[in-house]
Amino acid sequence: MTIHIGAKPGDIAETVLMPGDPLRAKWAAETFLDDPVCVNEVRGMLGFTGTWRGNRVTIQGSGMGMPSLSIYANELIRDYGAKTLIRIGSCGAMQEKVALRDIVIGMSCTSMSTPSRGFFRELNFAPCADYGLLAAAVAAAGAKGTPTHCGNIYSADVFYDERPDLNEQMTRHGVLAVEMEAAELYTVAARFGCRALAILTVSDHLLRGEALPSADRQSSFGDMVEIALESAFT
Ligand code: ADE
Repeated sequence: MTIHIGAKPGDIAETVLMPGDPLRAKWAAETFLDDPVCVNEVRGMLGFTGTWRGNRVTIQGSGMGMPSLSIYANELIRDYGAKTLIRIGSCGAMQEKVALRDIVIGMSCTSMSTPSRGFFRELNFAPCADYGLLAAAVAAAGAKGTPTHCGNIYSADVFYDERPDLNEQMTRHGVLAVEMEAAELYTVAARFGCRALAILTVSDHLLRGEALPSADRQSSFGDMVEIALESAFT
């Protein structure tokens, strides 16, 4: 057990999918895994371990924002031996070519700050995805026929951003979408020699002012879980 995860040693698989929402972790485990067992309930941040096509997988909620994700990523890697961590979540599109329901795969992350900022001091570390996972995810999304964009994403510290000029600069510099966790996931994974990737579904559009109805979010989320599982075990 760790401070935030109640799982016993051996309860967590080497491959971990990390949705922000713990109820999404429960839904994904019950929908896609064989024999899912709940391995964590601490603070309601549910985690489940089961198998997918015979491969052991854990689906563990990360909570929202980099400080929360950082706690779970650190404990999963350092205390439970996780080796491959894939964030599955939503994002807000920042380019006209990106539409609602499209998949965005984070190749690299821009941020104002991350929980690792103090660690790097004056260094602007560039958090980037594991290339093998990224290539496998692009192939899996392509096979599904889901429109997919691969590139730089913005890991924001605040959801309710009061600086519209900042978003304009992100758009101008080709950033595909905004979310709130991937930069720290990539950084922590890099620190411990692990593989990481963020696969995101577009739930809202910052330029068009559109948002996905909640009923549609579940099916987009399901596609993403399948793409994540295929990429992890390719
Ligand atoms: N996740 C989904 N949409 C988002 C947005 N607009 N900003 C930050 N994170 C998000």
